[in-house]
Amino acid sequence: IGKNIIYKKEVTSTQALAHDMARNDASEGTLVVADYQQKGKGRLGREWHSPPGTGLWFSLILRPDIPPQKAPQLTLLTAVAVTEGINKAAGIEAQIKWPNDILIDGKKTAGILTEMQSEPDRVQAVIVGIGININQQPEHFPELLLSKATSLSIAKENKIFSRAKVIAAILERYEDWYYQYLIDGFEQVRKRWEELAVTIGKEITATTVTKTVEGLAQGITEDGVLLLKKKDGQIEHIYSADIH
Ligand code: BTN
Repeated sequence: IGKNIIYKKEVTSTQALAHDMARNDASEGTLVVADYQQKGKGRLGREWHSPPGTGLWFSLILRPDIPPQKAPQLTLLTAVAVTEGINKAAGIEAQIKWPNDILIDGKKTAGILTEMQSEPDRVQAVIVGIGININQQPEHFPELLLSKATSLSIAKENKIFSRAKVIAAILERYEDWYYQYLIDGFEQVRKRWEELAVTIGKEITATTVTKTVEGLAQGITEDGVLLLKKKDGQIEHIYSADIH
């Protein structure tokens, strides 16, 4: 992972560039990283604020031999690797909020966007986009984000981190988890995800497109589906939701 590195000072989005490169046969493990994204992409069509030189904005090209329906497992694997990398490089207790936000002190410090290029029964490439707020100070965040977002620096008394060291720590954890996953499957990843998750074991409210469900977050399935135990004892499967 990261042996082939494409570095750009400025791009529209590392995710878009990685998609193009994957269509043009870029090899597994190719890393596309930029100092600044003019139009960073977040999940659910949102924009990802990517100011110059402050954070880590990168995309990885993977070519796992798995069926398309297992690709979401890689999102959870990525959350585990990024959380462990941050914890190791910064000495911080970051945690995962389902499905794949990474929080410090309850505020979002990193996000993951997993997309794939596939045929009906075969993954051609998975493009994993990772954005991490590293050295931003409060004035770097748009007003609206301040109550919800943080950076490693804000969490660690304004210390300035080496972005190179943080990405190196993450790629090192990534390589370990990814190759173990290809050999042994998802179960170890699932267990570690649950250990690092702030969501599990808590009373939460999940707002889906159609309804709001309250219950105790019990864990995740093989596919990353959240299991919620409601007051009446029934287990609800949550596929996609905002949770509090
Ligand atoms: C989220 O909404 O939480 C996911 C954010 C993902 C942002 C990263 S930054 C690097 C890569 N390039 C993009 O345009 N988006 C992802």
